[in-house]
Amino acid sequence: MERSLILVKPDATQRSLTGEIISRLEKQGLRLVAIKMLHLDKGLAQRHYAVHRGKPFFNNLVDYISSGPIVVAVFEGEGVIALIRKTMGSTDPAKAEAGTIRGDLGLDIERNTVHGSDSTETATQEIKLFFAPDEIFSP
Ligand code: RTP
Ligand code: MG
Repeated sequence: MERSLILVKPDATQRSLTGEIISRLEKQGLRLVAIKMLHLDKGLAQRHYAVHRGKPFFNNLVDYISSGPIVVAVFEGEGVIALIRKTMGSTDPAKAEAGTIRGDLGLDIERNTVHGSDSTETATQEIKLFFAPDEIFSP
């Protein structure tokens, strides 16, 4: 069964949007199988976003994602990666459609409220960074 890692980013935990975001994903028929709250240190933030190392926005991205508490969760379901990406909307909230999480709740391209894995390979790597196998509760 396919899995995706999501982050509720610092702008969203700060604005008390965690429940809203988890609820929107559950309402897509996706099963929540793991969840925790934590404050990333720079090292873990860099490993999570390693694919963007060297890009002009990398340092700001790492600083931002480690600037406050986040909620990390794993969802499971058929086609979960694509479905979550669709439900999140475009990276830049200004370009995201109404009805998507970023379109409705995002503030700007940095404070865009939510992260979701973009492939099965990155999902597997990201989930391993945050959860031990016995912290994931598959039915
Ligand atoms: P995420 O990884 O956070 O789910 O976002 P995404 O897949 O939609 O976008 P991605 O290309 O992976 O970029 C990761 C985060 O980097 C910031 N970004 N800034 N200034 C820019 O051009 C730029 N491009 C990306 C965004 O905060 C994005 O969420
Ligand atoms: Mg991404």
